[in-house]
Amino acid sequence: MTMSYDVAAEIQRLKKEKNAVVLAHYYEDGDIQDVADYVGDSFFLAKKGQEVKEQVILLAGVVFMAESVKIMNPTKTVLVPELEATCSLVKGAPYDKYLAWRQQHRDGIAVTYINSSAEVKSISDVIITSSNAAQIVETIPKDRKILFGPDQHLGRWLSKKLNREMEFWNGSCEVHVLFNANRLAAVIRENPDALILAHPECDDSVLAYANIIGSTQHLLDSVSSQPHKKFIVATETGIFHQMQKRRPDATFIQAPVVDEGCKCNDCPYMKMNNMEKIKRALETLKPEVNLPEALRLEAKVSLDRMMDITSGKPVQWPTEFRL
Ligand code: 13P
Ligand code: SF4
Repeated sequence: MTMSYDVAAEIQRLKKEKNAVVLAHYYEDGDIQDVADYVGDSFFLAKKGQEVKEQVILLAGVVFMAESVKIMNPTKTVLVPELEATCSLVKGAPYDKYLAWRQQHRDGIAVTYINSSAEVKSISDVIITSSNAAQIVETIPKDRKILFGPDQHLGRWLSKKLNREMEFWNGSCEVHVLFNANRLAAVIRENPDALILAHPECDDSVLAYANIIGSTQHLLDSVSSQPHKKFIVATETGIFHQMQKRRPDATFIQAPVVDEGCKCNDCPYMKMNNMEKIKRALETLKPEVNLPEALRLEAKVSLDRMMDITSGKPVQWPTEFRL
C-alpha cells in the first residue's frame, strides 16, 4: 500500500518549524501560489523581501528574483526550489558583453530590467520592473542618454510611451515573443467583446492590439476593475490562476502563439519549480542563494536607486560610467 501525504500541509508545517516565509511569482503553478504567504509581480516580491520578519525566505520564482532579495537582505537565508531556474533575458545578457556595451556609451545612464544577473546589475545605474519603469525613467534628466536592457520589447514600448530615445540591448523573453499578432487578430475578430491584456515583453506587433499593457500585477488588477466578461491574455499561463479567482464570472482566453497547440506559453524556468522541491528546500535549507559580498554591494546600488525613486526620494545620477 502506498502512503499518500499532503505536501501542502507539510510545507505549512515546515514554514513554522524553520521560521520561513514563501514568496511566489504569478507564473508559478496554482498549487505553489496557494501555499505561498505572498504572491506578486517581480517588484512586489523584491519589496516584500525587505518587509518580512522571518529568517528564511523561499522565493518560488526564478533565480534573479531570489538574488534581488538576497542583495537587499544579506543576513537572511534565501532559498530557491531550483537553482537552474534562470531566464532567457539573463542568459542573453552576459556580463562581459554588457560591460563592453556600457563602455561604448560611457556617458549613458544604464536602466536595467530586474530580469538580469547580479553581475549585470552591478554595472547598471538603476533597476526597473515593468510596474515601475515609466516612473523611474521619467526622473532621468532629458539631456541624458539612456541605455536600456536587456529586454528590447519592454524598452521599445517604454520609449514610445514616454517619447524618449534609448539605446537598446537586443534581448527578449523567449515566452512572450512567441505570441503571434496575425493569429491574435483572428481571435479578436471571433471575440469582439473581449478586452485584450498584454505584458510589455511581447513584440510591438502584438502590443498594437492590446487595450491594456502592463506588469503581471497591473494585468491582474485590470481583470478586477474592468467590467468585461471576456479577456484575451498575452502573458504566461500561471497568471490565469489568480485571474480566475478574482473573476469567476469571466472567460479568459490565452492569446495564440506561433504554433497551434504548443505549450510554449509556460515559462520553462518558472515551471522547473514544484511542490516537492519547495518542501525539500525547506527541509534542507538548500539550495541557498549566496553572492560574493563585493558583488552584492555593487549590485545593491542600482536596486537601491529603484527603491528610492519608487518611494519618492531624490536620487543622484553618475555623470560617467565608472569602469
Ligand atoms: P512582472 O514584473 O510583470 O512580474 O514580470 C516578470 C517576468 O518575468 C515577466 O516575464
Ligand atoms: Fe524570463 Fe520570460 Fe520566463 Fe519571465 S517569462 S522569467 S522574462 S523567460
